[in-house]
Amino acid sequence: MLLLLLGLVLSLALAQKLYPEEIVEQDFNMTRAAGSWSSISLASDNVMWIGVNGDLHLFIRTIELLLNSSLLFHFRFWMQGECVFVTVVCEKTPKNAEFSTVYRGENKVLILETDYWMYIIFYLKNVRFGIETQVLALYGRIPVLSDPLLDRFEKAYRKYGMGPRNTINLAEKDLCQY
Ligand SMILES: *[C@@H]1O[C@H](CO)[C@@H](O)[C@H](O)[C@H]1NC(C)=O
Ligand SMILES: *[C@@H]1O[C@H](CO)[C@@H](O)[C@H](O)[C@H]1NC(C)=O
Repeated sequence: MLLLLLGLVLSLALAQKLYPEEIVEQDFNMTRAAGSWSSISLASDNVMWIGVNGDLHLFIRTIELLLNSSLLFHFRFWMQGECVFVTVVCEKTPKNAEFSTVYRGENKVLILETDYWMYIIFYLKNVRFGIETQVLALYGRIPVLSDPLLDRFEKAYRKYGMGPRNTINLAEKDLCQY
């Protein structure tokens, strides 16, 4: 009887874990969006930005919510055989989950969707020398994400007029962790 009960409790716990979290597309809770993330995939209408030597070929480590509601992104990237660490502060704007930062030009950064638990999709619009560039970033709580979440990312970048040729896969490509 005790074993049966234990089994029931365990399977209930497991069912909870496997049940997907609700996907949020507005009114984001930035406390829940913060924490550890891994870069999974990037998409851009200018792939030079996200390619191996691109300015946005960055691997996310953590996102910190600062006391003044700004976001601090901790990135790392590989340059000339070395791991380089870079942090970027994104200042809060009056809009929910919308931020701005100066990094290689003016940037607007916002969240498109997340379940907080497994994945998050960021949208960035950069303006530099009057030229607009859009970038979408898929981050995962774990270094590899399941196909349904990759499909959600594809749906998101297609909405911004991009296709698979506009993307680069960063999952498990972070040379710094080896
Ligand atoms: C945001 O999430 C945190 C952590 O889960 C929670 O403590 C807080 O109440 C949430 N805030 C709102 C406005 O729901
Ligand atoms: C928020 O705090 C960070 C870190 O101290 C700082 O860099 C940033 O300028 C602050 N933002 C505002 C709007 O005060």
